[in-house]
Amino acid sequence: MEGIEHLVRPRTVAVVGASRESTKIGHVILKNIIENGFPRERVFPINPNVDEVLGLKCYPSLNDVPSKIDLAVIAVPANVVPRVIEDCVRKGVKVAAIISSGFREVGNVEAEMKILEIAKRGGVRILGPNIVGLIDTVVSLNASFLPYLPDKGEIVMISQSGALAAALLTWTKLKSIGLLDIINLGNRADVDESDLMDFFSKDPHAKAIVLYLEGVENGKKFMEVAKRVSKERPIVVLKAGKGARAAEAVKSHTGSLAGSDVAYDAVFKQCGIVRASDIRTLFDYALSLAMLPDPKGENVVILTNGGGAGVMCADACEELKLRLMEIPEDLASALRKWMPSFGSVFNPIDLTGMATEKEYYGSISVLLNDERVHALITLFSHPATLNPMNVAEAIASCVSEVGKNKPVVAAFIGGKECDDAMKFLIKNGIPTFDTPERAVAALATKYRYIYYKNRPAGKHLEIKREKDSAYEIIVRALKEGRNLTQSESCEVASFYGIPTPKKFVAKNLEEALRLADDLGYPLVLEVESPDIVHKTDVGAIKLNIRDRRELEDAYDGILKSVKEKAPNAKIEGVVVRPFVKEGTQVAVGMHRDEAFGPLVMFGSGGVLVELYRDVSFRVAPLTDVDIEEMMRETKVYRVLEGFRGAPKDANSVKNVLAAVSQLALDFDIISDVDINPLFVYESGCMAFDVKMLLKGVKRHSN
Ligand code: COA
Repeated sequence: MEGIEHLVRPRTVAVVGASRESTKIGHVILKNIIENGFPRERVFPINPNVDEVLGLKCYPSLNDVPSKIDLAVIAVPANVVPRVIEDCVRKGVKVAAIISSGFREVGNVEAEMKILEIAKRGGVRILGPNIVGLIDTVVSLNASFLPYLPDKGEIVMISQSGALAAALLTWTKLKSIGLLDIINLGNRADVDESDLMDFFSKDPHAKAIVLYLEGVENGKKFMEVAKRVSKERPIVVLKAGKGARAAEAVKSHTGSLAGSDVAYDAVFKQCGIVRASDIRTLFDYALSLAMLPDPKGENVVILTNGGGAGVMCADACEELKLRLMEIPEDLASALRKWMPSFGSVFNPIDLTGMATEKEYYGSISVLLNDERVHALITLFSHPATLNPMNVAEAIASCVSEVGKNKPVVAAFIGGKECDDAMKFLIKNGIPTFDTPERAVAALATKYRYIYYKNRPAGKHLEIKREKDSAYEIIVRALKEGRNLTQSESCEVASFYGIPTPKKFVAKNLEEALRLADDLGYPLVLEVESPDIVHKTDVGAIKLNIRDRRELEDAYDGILKSVKEKAPNAKIEGVVVRPFVKEGTQVAVGMHRDEAFGPLVMFGSGGVLVELYRDVSFRVAPLTDVDIEEMMRETKVYRVLEGFRGAPKDANSVKNVLAAVSQLALDFDIISDVDINPLFVYESGCMAFDVKMLLKGVKRHSN
C-alpha cells in the first residue's frame, strides 16, 4: 500500500511530456490538472523543448524542478520512458503514472520489466503503463485525458481498462452518480487492484469500491486483501471474459466444470465481493452499498401507487429472498389515514393512483417511525395528474427528517419526466431506479453484503491423515512418469480418511476369478489404467456382475472395448471389487486453478455431472463456513437434507470436502481429483470411483 496516498492525493504533480500542442495527450493532461481545481503552483510541466506551457514555467527535466514531487504523470513515447523513470528515481518521485502505451499489451514485456526494475530499485511506485490516468475528487485532481471530473461522490472506481473508465465516467455523469476516484490500472506492472482496495478500505471518504477486471494475476494476494477489505468497505466487481479458457484441454470432470469464470465466482463469494453482471447492475449495487445504512432486521415493506408495480416488486422480493413484512393491525390503521377506502394495507401497501406527495410523505413517515419496519421500497408509477418531482421531494424530505437510519430505495416508473426525479433522489442519497426489479436487486445486494460482512470467518476441519504413505504412492507414479491408477488414487484417498471400497488388482482372468470367489458376488470389474478418466465412455467398467460366467464375459468385453476406444491407454490389469450399495450420488473434486490455486468442487454426481452442472466451487483451504455455503448452493444438498426421502449423512461429505482441500494443499503436484460418484447413505458415505491426476503428466487416451 506504500506510496498509494501520493498517487491518489498528491501534494505536487509533474507532467512529463507536457506538449505545446493542444491536441497531444501530455498537453491535455496538464490542462485537465490545472483547469479542474488542483492548485497551479503545485503543478510542474516537464518538456526540454519549451520554456512555458499553458502559462506555467516548464522544466527541462524532473531534476530541475525546485520542489519535491509526489506524482509524475508520464506522457512520452515508450522508448523515452526508461530515462524518465531514472529521473524519477534520482528526484525521489514517489509514484509514476505512466500513460504511454507500447509495453506488455503489445508483447513488449522486456521494456516493461526494465522500467519496473529501475523503479523498484529506486523505491518509485508505478501506476500503469498504458493508462488514461487517474482522477481524485478530494484534491480535485484530473491527472488523465478523461474529459471532466465526475460529480463528487463516495464510490471509488478502479478499472483495468482505460476505455471502460472513460465510458463509465460519462455514464455515471449522465445518471448523476457521484464518484470519489477513478483509477485506471492498465498493465498493472506494479500497483494493482489489491493495493488500491487496501488503501481505500481505510479512506474515510470512500463508502464503496467498484472494480472492473479482466483478470487477476496475483490470486493469493487478491484473496487475502479482498477478504480483509470487504469487512470494511463493500466491493462490487464486474469481471469480463466469462467464456475464457474454453480451449484448455479437459482433463477431469472437475477440470471441465471449473472454467476460469467459475474460479472467479467462487473467489468473489469467498471474499465477500458482490458480483455484477453488467455496467448497469455494477452501479445499481454500488449505489445501494455506498448510500444505504445497514438494515436492523429483515422486514421489508413495499409502498406503491400502482397495483401492478407492487405485484412485480413483490415477485422480485420473493425471488431474491427478501422477506415481506406482515402488516400488523395497528400499523395498518395508521396507514389507512393516507389512502382512500379502496387502497390496500397488505404488503405491498397500495396508496392507489389518487396518492399525491402528501400521501407519500404521510405513509412513509408512518412506516419509518415503526420499529418493526426495517427497510422500505417506494414505488411511483407516473399518473398524468402528478408531477414526479413533487413526489421525489416529498420522499427525500421525509427520509431526511424521519429517516431513522433505515434503508430506503425507490423506483420511478414512467417516461422522461421521471428522469429528473430519479437524479434528484440519487443526489439526496436514495438509490432510485426505473423498474421495481432493479430497486429490489439493489436492496437485496445490501442484505447480501451484510451477510458477508457478519458471517463468521469459519474454522478448518482437522483431518487425520497419513501424509507420508500418500507421498510414497505419488512419488512412485511421478518417477514412472504417469498418473495414479484408480487403485492408487483410492489408496491416497483412504490415507486422508475418505471411505473407499476394498479393491484388488488382477493381472489376468484367472486371478480375477480367484479374487471374485474370495470376495463373493455381486462385483464390479474395471480396467486399471492411469490413462483412462471417463471409464464409462470407453466401456472400461462393468457393474453388478453376478456370477463367474458374467465375470468372464465382462473381462473379455472390457478389454476389447478399451483396445478399440482407447488404443494408447496403458493397461495394468483389472480391478475387482465388491458392488457397493448405491446411495445418493454426489461428486467431490479439485482442479488447480492457475491464478487462485486448488478449486474444490461439490455437486450432483454420476456420469451426467457436466450436463446438469449442479455444482459449486470454493478455493482451498476450506473452512467449515465455506463447505456449508458451497453445499447449500447445490440442488443435491436438498436431497441430502431429506427431499423425498430420508436425510443423508451430509457431515460425512463435509469431511470428504475437507480432506480433498487438505490433500490439495499438501501436494502441489496433484492437479485434479475426481471422486464421482461419492455414494452418500443415511450413515456415512463411500467414494465409489476416485481419480487423481498429476501436474505435467500426459495421459495417452480419452
Ligand atoms: N521529457 C519531457 N518531455 C519530453 C521528453 C522528455 N524526455 N522527450 C520529449 N518530450 C516532449 C516532446 O517534445 C513533446 O512535446 P512537444 O509536442 O511540445 O514537442 C512531448 O514530450 C510529447 O512527445 P511526443 O514525441 O510528441 O509524443 P506524443 O505526444 O505524440 O505521444 C504518448 C506520447 C505517450 C501520448 C504516446 O506515445 C502514447 O503512448 N499514446 C497512447 C496513450 C494511451 O492511449 N494510453 C492508454 C489509454 S487506455
